[in-house]
Amino acid sequence: MEGVKHNRFGPVIFSKYERGSAIERALAMSREDILFELKNSGLKGRGGAGFPTSTKWMLTAAAISDKKYLICNADEGEPGTFKDRVLLIEYPELVFDAMVVGGYTIGATEGIVYLRGEYEYLLDSLNDYLNGMRKDNLLGENILGKKGFNFDIRIFLGEGSYVCGEETALIESLEGHRGEARNRPPYPVNTGFMGKPTCVNNVETLATISHIIVKGSEWYKNFGTSKSKGTKLFSISGDCEKPGVYELEWGMKISDVLKLVGAKDTKAVQIGGASGVCLNSSQFDRTLAYEDVPTGGSIIIFNKKRSMLKVLKNFMEFFVEESCGQCTPCRIGNVKLLEAVKMIEENKLTFGYLKKLKELAETMKIASKCGLGQSSPNPFLSIIENFKEEIFNYAGGGEYAKE
Ligand SMILES: Cc1cc2nc3c(=O)[nH]c(=O)nc-3n(C[C@H](O)[C@H](O)[C@H](O)COP(=O)(O)O)c2cc1C
Repeated sequence: MEGVKHNRFGPVIFSKYERGSAIERALAMSREDILFELKNSGLKGRGGAGFPTSTKWMLTAAAISDKKYLICNADEGEPGTFKDRVLLIEYPELVFDAMVVGGYTIGATEGIVYLRGEYEYLLDSLNDYLNGMRKDNLLGENILGKKGFNFDIRIFLGEGSYVCGEETALIESLEGHRGEARNRPPYPVNTGFMGKPTCVNNVETLATISHIIVKGSEWYKNFGTSKSKGTKLFSISGDCEKPGVYELEWGMKISDVLKLVGAKDTKAVQIGGASGVCLNSSQFDRTLAYEDVPTGGSIIIFNKKRSMLKVLKNFMEFFVEESCGQCTPCRIGNVKLLEAVKMIEENKLTFGYLKKLKELAETMKIASKCGLGQSSPNPFLSIIENFKEEIFNYAGGGEYAKE
């Protein structure tokens, strides 16, 4: 893993970084100064929810407890997302250094990486990497000579369940329970893993923090828009010549992204993975930013040969399969939305029933217990709306087409 060549291009995450430098820099700073840097950077969580990172660290730092944890969420289960894997393989120093910085800042002694089950093949090399850090006193006791600062990292392998990427289901799974979301409050920052204050951060959030600590929040704020600071990693796949992981500044137009990756005859772009929204060509001048189209970083491109009904069916089958079944809106709602897709295929969906399904989808967004059921209606609502002519001509036009 140490031998991997870093030949990617990007102004922040893929910029030059020396292993251990964020730890060294952070240990020379006060915790308050680190929290200030994070706040000033405007960094928001890259796992999808976009929660301000400084607030999460501040709340965990403020929680009083004999033991605290910092968890790196490397579950990466969202279909179309593969950026975190690239960071773990090619830039482990960015992720692990930031975990140590986090441990110092919030007062945690243990870091846990929750690694997606399908990434088991990374386990040995990541453990080797951690051993190297231990040897160089970047992990362990009195890190880099800082008396009393003890922190170590272990890796826990998930079992391939999508919902276990949701932070409270992840914690349940870590504790050896069924992966189901917890009621909130209390939030993990106060009552997390083993009932102790726990900060859960996405891999990319952590990787970004290492650069912010070394190069400063003012430097970081040079990138992005006024409301979306910095850069973002995008996993870009589908119908394009150059799929891959790209680091782009927030604020880029979707049409420019399509040009960059050599996408031709694009009909649809799914932003944010299966649980995101699907846009049509009239919306390609919109920008990727928290203030316009926010995203955890997955972009799936569909050209004119694709059937959007089949795309939608594929997404809804995924959600039916992955719903943990704990709450009714998600367990039943996803099944009903998938049934609707099949009804369209058979030309049996009426306009009246579609109206009810849209209401159901809106209800799922607010009544589901966790983000899975709150976001799974997104592709249904956006594909039905943005591709209505294609969808309802699928089977020669149904009742809907007659209204
Ligand atoms: C169904 C579901 C799956 C999720 N999967 C992931 C994931 O694989 N990785 C991730 O970082 N966050 C995932 N999240 C978001 C986490 O709950 C949490 O917001 C995130 O790990 C916090 O880190 P951040 O603040 O750095 O973004 C998921 C959320 C939901 C609802």
